[in-house]
Amino acid sequence: MRVGVIGLGMGLHLADWCRKVGMEVVAACDRVPERRAAARARLPGAVLVERWQELLEHRLDGVVLANDFDEHAPLAITFLHHGVHVLSESAACVDAAEGKRLIAAADRSSATYSFAENYVAHPHVRLIQQAIESGRLGRISLIETDYLHGMSPTDVAGLIGDPAHWRGRIAPTAYCTHTLSPVLALTNAWPVEVSAFSVEESDPRAAVVMAVRLSSGALALTRHGFLQGEPDSHWSWVSVRGTKALAESVRAAGERSWSVRVRTESWAASEGYAREEELTPPPLTLTGEPVARGAEGTVRILLAFRATVEHGKPPLVPVRPAVAASLVGVAGAESLADNSRPVPVPVVRSLEEGGADR
Ligand SMILES: NC(=O)c1ccc[n+]([C@@H]2O[C@H](COP(=O)([O-])OP(=O)(O)OC[C@H]3O[C@@H](n4cnc5c(N)ncnc54)[C@H](O)[C@@H]3O)[C@@H](O)[C@H]2O)c1
Repeated sequence: MRVGVIGLGMGLHLADWCRKVGMEVVAACDRVPERRAAARARLPGAVLVERWQELLEHRLDGVVLANDFDEHAPLAITFLHHGVHVLSESAACVDAAEGKRLIAAADRSSATYSFAENYVAHPHVRLIQQAIESGRLGRISLIETDYLHGMSPTDVAGLIGDPAHWRGRIAPTAYCTHTLSPVLALTNAWPVEVSAFSVEESDPRAAVVMAVRLSSGALALTRHGFLQGEPDSHWSWVSVRGTKALAESVRAAGERSWSVRVRTESWAASEGYAREEELTPPPLTLTGEPVARGAEGTVRILLAFRATVEHGKPPLVPVRPAVAASLVGVAGAESLADNSRPVPVPVVRSLEEGGADR
């Protein structure tokens, strides 16, 4: 499978893993010469170009989009138009109109769109998914997801303080995709309405909390940005309360942060007393070598992308939930600007032109 990669920050990391899962990285692009130079030794045999349009000339099967967060959709639409399968990093679109164009392009294309959501494929999220599917939690009432980085004020300013960089110019609600994508995958629901709150009024860009009503009737509470107390599970913590039991990431340091605590109340447990269990994810290996926990999500999304392109398997996170997760960030920004007023999230199914549900 011949792939190209656009954007050589996170993209170079993804390109390394593409090679490890058996893809051929034939071309890579970054407009910054130093980034291309840094990629040269790590991507032997790949053509390195400055303009992403040049990748259209390389008979690619797939393209990995890791350029600026708020600029993925135009590239995705172009590659889909040319029949190239797309794996796009953490934002699908910047508004509903662009989301609609992206869905239409994916529906029209002979190729597929996959959202590169490693947070859906992290070990603790998969364990919680299995607990939900076993029926032991009952119906989901409340789901909480965090994507929080514990960093010094200087490091935070270094990361989001430059308004010319995408991290500095996006709305503080925009990077909600690593919390919303697990919410949508675990509940199989759509976002309906969102109220967003700054955590600290004196530093409103640092962290936000969102309350998202879901189409299932459940409530999602999501927190993202920069707060102390970073979970070691790749900055992700997930808790799901069902009508019979709770499943949540263990709040612990190190390897145990990938484990999941399941608590079944006495009235719902066959033993007649409350049952507490701690589930540990099984190890993932790639060509006989163990994969570090933090990389498992990345490996799984790349294996899934390969299965989609080579064997026609459905994308792990297809275009509609990708657009829906991104539009929560857009509606959340509107809510933040208007005193946390509840703002409806555009219904992704009404953005389509006659296609089926996901
Ligand atoms: N899923 C994850 O765990 C994860 C982790 C980090 C970043 N990301 C995502 O990856 C994307 C990139 O993040 P990053 O941290 O690497 O950002 P970055 O700013 O460090 O890198 C982006 C690179 O893309 C290049 N670029 C941007 N537009 C381009 C264009 N039109 N043509 C050529 N090159 C272009 C820039 O020069 C830059 O080198 C973002 O969407 C981010 O959300 C995801």
